[in-house]
Parts: sequence; C-alpha cells; structure tokens
Amino acid sequence: MKQIALLLLAVATLAAAVAFTAHASRDTDGAAQIFVTEIPRGYREWRLVSVAHEEGNLNDIRAILGNDEAIKAYRAGKLPFPEGTIIARIAWRHVPSEENNKAFGREQSFVPGEAPPWYLQFMVKDSKKYAATGGWGYAQFDKDGKPGPESDMKNCFPCHQAIKDRDYVFTRYAP
Ligand code: HEC
Repeated sequence: MKQIALLLLAVATLAAAVAFTAHASRDTDGAAQIFVTEIPRGYREWRLVSVAHEEGNLNDIRAILGNDEAIKAYRAGKLPFPEGTIIARIAWRHVPSEENNKAFGREQSFVPGEAPPWYLQFMVKDSKKYAATGGWGYAQFDKDGKPGPESDMKNCFPCHQAIKDRDYVFTRYAP
C-alpha cells in the first residue's frame, strides 16, 4: 500500500513538473513570438495586390504581394483575412532612370533602386500566436535577410491599429 502511495506521489510530481515545463516554455515562446523572425518561403512568387510610392524620408517605391489565402480573400472582399494569410511588402529606393529618360527624351522615368534597410516587411495571420497584436505577426528584414531592429518592430502594430476596421491592413486590392 505504501509503495502504491509512493508511486502515485512520484507520478503526481512528474506530472506537475511536466505541466510546469510546458507552461514555462509556452511563456518564453509567447514572448519570442511577437515578431516573425524568418522570411516566409516563396514570397517572390506571390501575386500582386498593389503598388505604392512613399515620399519624405522613406522615398521608396513598393510592391505589395499576397499568398493564395490573401489573394482569395482580397478578391472575394472577405474580412477578416483567414488564418494563414501572409501579405508581403517589398521596397526599393525611388531613383530616376537615365536610360529610360533618354528614350523618352525628357526626365520622367523612375525605377526601383537599391534596397533600403526596411526592404522586406510581412504580416502573417495567426490569431492564436499573435493574439496580442491583432492576430498578425509583423516582420521586417533588410536585403541580407537580417531582421529589423526591435525599436522598429515595436511600432508596427500601434500604427496599423489605425486601420483596425479593415483587419489592420491598409493596402486595398488594385483591380
Ligand atoms: C507610422 C505608421 C506605420 C508603421 C510604424 C508601420 N506601418 Fe506598415 N503600413 C503603414 C501604411 C500607411 C501602409 C500602407 C502604405 C502605402 O500603401 O503607401 C503600410 C503597409 C504595410 C504592409 C502592406 C499591407 C498593408 O497593411 O497595407 C505591411 C506588410 C506592413 N505595412 C508591415 C509593417 C511592419 C512589419 C511594420 C513594423 C516594422 C510596419 N508595417 C510599421 C503604416 C505603418
């Protein structure tokens, strides 16, 4: 009888230890999971949602791409975006093209130049994992694939909150 009691105690202790470890690791993951730290695979093959040009300090030209989930939802006008949606944003410096201008005979052509430090940005929909930031994980990388500084990353969600009624996504589908 005493042996069974000891065995039960051992099992209970082990279960508690496992539960604690699982909880602890979930907590650390939770803290690490605010931002996406890996570039989503295959994004350069995704379809075009729209383009944009920023002036001011950014002075870039940008393309917004979506994976299949994103494009389907955009075309159906469906909100919120479904789980698994990823929206990519690629930016390049906005530079004049002498080559093109020569052909036109006047200065009018601008093309993508080198990659700025905010070259790549992503929003990844996973409502559970990124519950604290509206269900979207935010990511930024430079041209070498290095993740953006935490000071930049902290600003993503607070600014995107301005467009909460469109599921935090500013870009509209360009028909
Ligand atoms: C000061 C406000 C602001 C901050 C900070 C900001 N964004 Fe945005 N973001 C915008 C706006 C506005 C657009 C649309 C820009 C355009 O089309 O000209 C946009 C567009 C995007 C898009 C394309 C999808 C969409 O919502 O239109 C992605 C992806 C994105 N941002 C990710 C990020 C990430 C990642 C960060 C943090 C590193 C970030 N943003 C920080 C305002 C912001």
